[in-house]
Parts: sequence; C-alpha cells; structure tokens
Amino acid sequence: MSVPLTIAVDGPAASGKGTISRRIAVRYGLRHLDTGLLYRAVAMLCAAEGIDTTDAEASGARAAMLHPSDLERGDLRSAEAGRGASVVAAHGTVREALLGWQRAFADRAPGAVLDGRDIGTVVLPQARAKLFVTADPDVRAARRWRELSKDRDIPYRDVLRDIEERDARDAGRADAPMTRAGDAALLDTTEMGIEAAVDEAVRLIERQLGR
Ligand code: DC
Repeated sequence: MSVPLTIAVDGPAASGKGTISRRIAVRYGLRHLDTGLLYRAVAMLCAAEGIDTTDAEASGARAAMLHPSDLERGDLRSAEAGRGASVVAAHGTVREALLGWQRAFADRAPGAVLDGRDIGTVVLPQARAKLFVTADPDVRAARRWRELSKDRDIPYRDVLRDIEERDARDAGRADAPMTRAGDAALLDTTEMGIEAAVDEAVRLIERQLGR
C-alpha cells in the first residue's frame, strides 16, 4: 500500500490557511482536517458542561473524550469558541489528548491536509510538504471583520485586538507554540487575493514534492 501523502499548513488566524487547505485537499484528492475545530470543540464542551477551561487536568480529561460528532456543533465558528480554544490550547494535557486523533486522521490513505498552528512542528514533523501561511495583522483583522460584520455590528478595533491577543497567546505558550517549521515554505498573503494565494501554495507544494 502506498504511504499516505500528508501536507501541513500552519499559520495565524485569518491568514487564509483554512481556505487554502480546503482547496489544496480537493486538488490533491486528500481529506482535510481543520485542527482548530478540535480545540474549539473542547472549549465549547467545557463551557457547556461547567468545566473550568483554565483547569489543565479537567479540560485535558474532556479533550480525551472528544467524539467526531462533537466537531459538528453549530457554535464552533463563534468568536467565543475561538477565544476559548486559544485558552485550552495552552494546556499540554489538551494537546496531548488531541495528538493521536490528528495523527490517526492523517495516517489513513490517501492522506490528508491538516491545518493549524503546530502541524509542521509537532503533529506531522514528517509531512511531505509544509506551508506557513501568514499576513499582516491589520490585513487579517480586516478580513475577519468583513466576515463577522455580515451578521452583526462589530467595531474593527475589537476584531484587531482579538487577533493580536490570540497571536500572542498562540505564539507565546510553552507547549507547541505557533511557529514556522524550519522546512516549511513561507506564504505571505498580505497582498494576495485567495486565487493568487492558492496558486502560490500549489507552486510551493509541487516544489517540495519534487515535481
Ligand atoms: O485556527 P482556529 O482559529 O480555528 O484555532 C483556534 C485556536 O485553537 C487558536 O487560537 C489556537 C488553537 N490551535 C492550536 O493551538 N493548535 C492547532 N493545531 C490549531 C488550533
């Protein structure tokens, strides 16, 4: 049987990594896992069940019981879920509980694209191709603001502050901080539309695959 093809895509919130990953998965015929959803689900389950998200042991124990259907909750894309995810994601207990889940997903044929913060560094250090997708914080905040303000009135400065706080927490934590793997190709989407970003992502991946 052939070895599954694994592609790691990391980067901060609203960098474009989610859309790029979905499109790459279609292009290469792979499955896709948005690993942020795992952390978001843990945060929302803790909130719903009265588990203190700052309690590493309790939230780690909840993460160990995560079920695939938990990823279908309707509230995972909310700002509350994003903030909570960033808090539970700082616990080594939670990260450890989710590690096997992510690796098992990637290991099944034909392979997968995983996007997150530590895929190229911790989850799949042997991934065949790795991207680190980023963009200036104000450009990312403007993208997120355009998305959120379709449904409700929200000040741009609140969105920018949220992005900056999340970046600081994700990059500053001791356990598996968000960082570019030494062998990841850098893709800065600050001045790119999504089509150009996907084209560039494919070019970078093809190069890493030696094609
Ligand atoms: O990508 P996202 O916004 O859905 O991620 C939500 C939070 O989950 C993010 O602030 C950090 C955390 N996360 C992580 O620590 N590691 C990952 N592989 C994915 C997400």
